[in-house]
Amino acid sequence: MTTLRNILFAALALLATLGTAQAQKAADGLRIHYLGGNRTLVHVDQPRRYLLLPVEEQAPEATVRVLANARTQEEIRIRLALNKVDYLVPVDLARWEGQGIALDIYTENSRANVRDAIADAYWSHLALSDTFDTANRETYRPRYHHTPRYGWMNDPNGMFYLDGTWHLCYQWNPYGSMWGNLSWGHSTSADLVHWQAQPAALRPDGLGMIFSGSCVVDTAGTAGFGRGAVIAIYTSAAGTQIQSMAVSTDGGRTFRPYGANPIIVSDKECRDPHMFWHPETGRWIMVLAAALEHEMWIYSSPDLKTWTKESSFGKGYGSQDGVWECPDLFPLPVPDGGGKQKWVLLCNINPGGIYGGSATQYFVGDFDGHTFTCDSKPEVTKWMDWGKDHYATVSWANAPQGRRTAIGWMSNWQYANNVPTQQYRSANTLPRELSLFDGGDGQLYLASTPSPELEKLRREPSVKTSFTARQKGTSRPLPQQNGGVCELELLLGTGSASKVYVTLSNPAGEKVVMTYDVSARTFAMDRTQSGLTGFSVDFPTVTTAPAPDGSFQVLRLFIDRCSIEAFEGQGRFAMTNLVFPTQPYTTVTVSTDSGRCAVRQLTVWPLGAE
Ligand code: FRU
Repeated sequence: MTTLRNILFAALALLATLGTAQAQKAADGLRIHYLGGNRTLVHVDQPRRYLLLPVEEQAPEATVRVLANARTQEEIRIRLALNKVDYLVPVDLARWEGQGIALDIYTENSRANVRDAIADAYWSHLALSDTFDTANRETYRPRYHHTPRYGWMNDPNGMFYLDGTWHLCYQWNPYGSMWGNLSWGHSTSADLVHWQAQPAALRPDGLGMIFSGSCVVDTAGTAGFGRGAVIAIYTSAAGTQIQSMAVSTDGGRTFRPYGANPIIVSDKECRDPHMFWHPETGRWIMVLAAALEHEMWIYSSPDLKTWTKESSFGKGYGSQDGVWECPDLFPLPVPDGGGKQKWVLLCNINPGGIYGGSATQYFVGDFDGHTFTCDSKPEVTKWMDWGKDHYATVSWANAPQGRRTAIGWMSNWQYANNVPTQQYRSANTLPRELSLFDGGDGQLYLASTPSPELEKLRREPSVKTSFTARQKGTSRPLPQQNGGVCELELLLGTGSASKVYVTLSNPAGEKVVMTYDVSARTFAMDRTQSGLTGFSVDFPTVTTAPAPDGSFQVLRLFIDRCSIEAFEGQGRFAMTNLVFPTQPYTTVTVSTDSGRCAVRQLTVWPLGAE
């Protein structure tokens, strides 16, 4: 059999050297023409809904041009399988119904000849199908955090609330679970917790990939697309980065790019426009990240199409050790301020985050419609979340009841492409409500608390108890149904202990140790022995947050298969870290280094995320 195949390959290779294109039947309805070592044309003779392309994550990227009636419709970069198939991704052919569809494939793996091309494994796995199976295959897929059904996800984009629906778009690669082919995936939710996948909102076009950006609801119709049009502005990224607009006149269900794009150009690397309406000046405001300048540029516009640069903020402020990305700017009430407001400028930075890689810093100050002025000195850096997996955080436009609700990407550029999942990669953080608090040092800080909708997931507590914790430690079981997803709340009187440990562990010896250091006034999370950590040297880490003063501490913990989010009771610190235990944590233990700690209440709620 093998000999026979070798003879066949040799004959094909010989023909190729004579300059003859070869055709071979790969699967029903497909014809494959081998045009050389690195170019192949696949004809779809009998189209079905999807053409499934096999991906091998270690393979180099190939370029696939999808042709309809010989015109290029889409250009995809994809790691077409060479040696083994990790998973399949679908090309939706319904878009070109009735047209002659073909794929023009260029591989960049320098094959010597057609014979090598034929030997690549992926050809035999190309398939036409009427369905694409998105049933979950991942044990680490979170239950109550948003994830894409398949493919890669990074930043949340274009979030807006309209008529009872929260819209969440996101940086999405529909053709693989690593970064690339950036489109805006789209999901919607009635409660910020249960999400429905929608068709992609925006796909790459002739101006480039669709990088991050924002949406606003144009209630007054200032842009000329009617009252209530939803306007998206995003970065078109090819060789350079320019800003483009897309319009939805059906409440955000579908978007079409604006014909006169781009609307802002610059010779600097600038991206991730974030817009809002500023009633005092009667103008739209946009903040744009000038990534390498370490600046946020502020623009204004009467109509969302023509933008005037007003000012810039950032030189020398906060953390400067990386690119500045994904800004947001919004007002929040000053606590006990008699109606006074302060403005918060979010500035995501990568690398240069507090524990390496990505993180969200912010500045508190004033905004007069033209200029942002920061209250603190340039050398002050404020972090929104003290873990390693909280990035690209921005807030929803048009949220109800004056809420300022934000969500982040729950990963870190240091290892996001390598975390141990394949069907999809990355989740969002929990949605969070933002407010200001007085740090007691003359400064205002940003508090993040889990959005109240999460409480609807609570089932009957599986543990509700109080006890005195000592050095030896007192343990309680964690629920195991639903993959162990749960919420814990601890009310701790730190008493005579100088350190209080809250440990999550499983029978495999894996654990996450959280430590309140009473005298240092810190809270730390150690994930060095949390489970799988070897996929990146940057993963095993101890992250530390400043804890509020006082001997009474309230801690809320959210566990969702591959993540732990810790919140101080009033959100005065938040800490988001991924973990990959080989089996769910089964036990929570409270112990001390010496002395006693009163666990005034420990409540564990299994979370129903069906
Ligand atoms: C942040 C970011 C953005 C950019 C997007 C591209 O994570 O680098 O600045 O728009 O990702 O995917």
